[in-house]
Amino acid sequence: MRMVDIIHKKRNGQTLSTAEWDYVIQAYTADQLPDYQMAALLMAIYFQEINGSETADLTLAMAKSGRMLDLSQIEGIKVDKHSTGGVADTTTLILAPLVAAAGVPVAKMSGRGLGFTGGTIDKLESIPGFRTGLTEAEFIHTVKAHGIAVMGQTADIAPADGKIYALRDVTATIESIPLIASSIMSKKIAAGADRILLDVKVGSGAFMQNLDDAIRLAKEMVRIGRLVGRQTKAVITSMDQPLGMAVGNSLEVIEAIEVLRGGHTGSALYHVCLTLGSHLLTMANVATDEVTARQRLAESLADGSALRKFEEFVIAQGGNGEVVRDFSLLPQPRARVTVQATKAGVIQAISTADIGLCATLLGAGREHKGQQIDLAAGLMMACRIGDKVEVGQPLAELFAANSDNFAEVSSRLLGAISIGPKPVQTGPLVYGLVD
Ligand code: URA
Ligand code: CA
Repeated sequence: MRMVDIIHKKRNGQTLSTAEWDYVIQAYTADQLPDYQMAALLMAIYFQEINGSETADLTLAMAKSGRMLDLSQIEGIKVDKHSTGGVADTTTLILAPLVAAAGVPVAKMSGRGLGFTGGTIDKLESIPGFRTGLTEAEFIHTVKAHGIAVMGQTADIAPADGKIYALRDVTATIESIPLIASSIMSKKIAAGADRILLDVKVGSGAFMQNLDDAIRLAKEMVRIGRLVGRQTKAVITSMDQPLGMAVGNSLEVIEAIEVLRGGHTGSALYHVCLTLGSHLLTMANVATDEVTARQRLAESLADGSALRKFEEFVIAQGGNGEVVRDFSLLPQPRARVTVQATKAGVIQAISTADIGLCATLLGAGREHKGQQIDLAAGLMMACRIGDKVEVGQPLAELFAANSDNFAEVSSRLLGAISIGPKPVQTGPLVYGLVD
């Protein structure tokens, strides 16, 4: 097979065969194809798009480019939840112990944060002693013993995706729905869960900025899952504003523990966690319908069993379980400042990606891979869309190691929150389910 012929075919909008997709992915992973040929193919895919069976072929080829985890030693139906990325998306920290407490085994591989979106692995590492670098054997053992484990994604999971993603990033080919779908699903398939629940975010802090694109991406991923024999569902949820109030690693751990303690029951974060959790319970066959599942989850938050599962999980992975009672054990910021509204009115909109960027500038996130972050840094929002505010009212509190860029971040944050005279009707938090 010659790569130039494959590029030529795709450039002209023809369909590539399973063997051709396998060849491209295998050869590129093995460094046998130059980046310029792969870049040309990616651009052809961007313009010509690819059909459903091609996307499934590409996804499977990427999943098989590295290690495929085998979770068959763990009894029960293993579920995985994946968010397409957002700001203050603390759901995994809450959902994992919540559904584990209901008897659903959670074997989850997670990533680190990049750009304006946070990563579960960084958040967990703000707990003193917590180890995310488990071996595969430790990972499986921990799930068998405790019903829950979360480990960092290793380099041998879908290595083709890592290489292609880096190339897409510098060739303006990130924003292709089949490429995003195959990227996400290849990692989920390699990570071994039986059932996959996707939380596709839409809005000012998400990859997908409009609902039509979010639905297309969700349908594509659900279809790929079905074609490769993994039951997959997707919930489309709003990222028009930060989901929780905390943006930053230890700050999000605190907010998650507060929810697990039975708090914040009226919040958007709580609502999304219960929605996703109820789908996970029905997908794992431990509840017959979403209403019963939701009740069961609400009970385990109220009666402390979800919190006890979180504590057990933290201890099992080497962390200090006392954090559930004592937040002073978490990394502490040395400087803080309140950002106040400079005009009165109603919060009209929040540029959510900019809020994520503010947290990054305070030290909570990375601008490039491998960068050190400050686990105590970040911000706490004090307002949501539709809130009425007066001049001088706090909109957020910033936390960092020092006050060096508080002035810059404060002005950026004020720019990200638009205040106007009109009352605002907020859109739905959960748009719907694709299954
Ligand atoms: N997340 C991924 O893992 N891959 C993409 O292409 C986009 C978002
Ligand atoms: Ca994530």
